[in-house]
Amino acid sequence: MSPDASPSLPSNPSSGQRELVLRVVPMPADSNANGDIFGGWIMAQVDIAGSILPLRISRGRVATVAVNEFIFKQPVSIGDLLSFYATVTRIGRSSITVHVEVVAERDPTHPQVVKVTEANLTYVAIDRDGKPRPFNPPA
Ligand SMILES: CC(C)(COP(=O)(O)OP(=O)(O)OC[C@H]1O[C@@H](n2cnc3c(N)ncnc32)[C@H](O)[C@@H]1OP(=O)(O)O)[C@@H](O)C(=O)NCCC(=O)NCCS
Repeated sequence: MSPDASPSLPSNPSSGQRELVLRVVPMPADSNANGDIFGGWIMAQVDIAGSILPLRISRGRVATVAVNEFIFKQPVSIGDLLSFYATVTRIGRSSITVHVEVVAERDPTHPQVVKVTEANLTYVAIDRDGKPRPFNPPA
């Protein structure tokens, strides 16, 4: 894409396909007392990453209503390149459930790709008053 090209939206965020939604490198300030990356920091990034497809699908604000499952499979280190992949697994009337996988690319001299975290989260589309906003009325 040339620098002048218009950015475009993905074709179908509710297709059920796995999409890269976020990339980030954790910094020393994100670490815990063991020197690994703090789990709460990872949870916050997963929450942001999981919200991307629901924001697009519902075309408005969303709130996290539930973290249904969250698994820390491997520790994360300062400097890992983290990629967050999201897949929509359920679309309800006002809610959307998303599976998020996090993979780390580490040690650029001997590159390794490791799945570090997996989670399932549910988001609810909300209106200006913070009430559920049905975006997918039953046919
Ligand atoms: C999200 C919120 C607006 C939902 O309000 P509510 O009165 O519980 O909504 P409802 O009972 O009408 O349910 C709305 C939808 O959420 C789903 N839902 C509610 N609780 C759920 C749960 N524990 N797990 C999964 N889905 C849930 C319902 O199934 C429904 O889905 P559908 O419309 O697709 O059928 C309200 O719970 C809220 O404001 N929570 C705080 C959100 C927040 O601050 N998040 C950030 C915290 S870090």
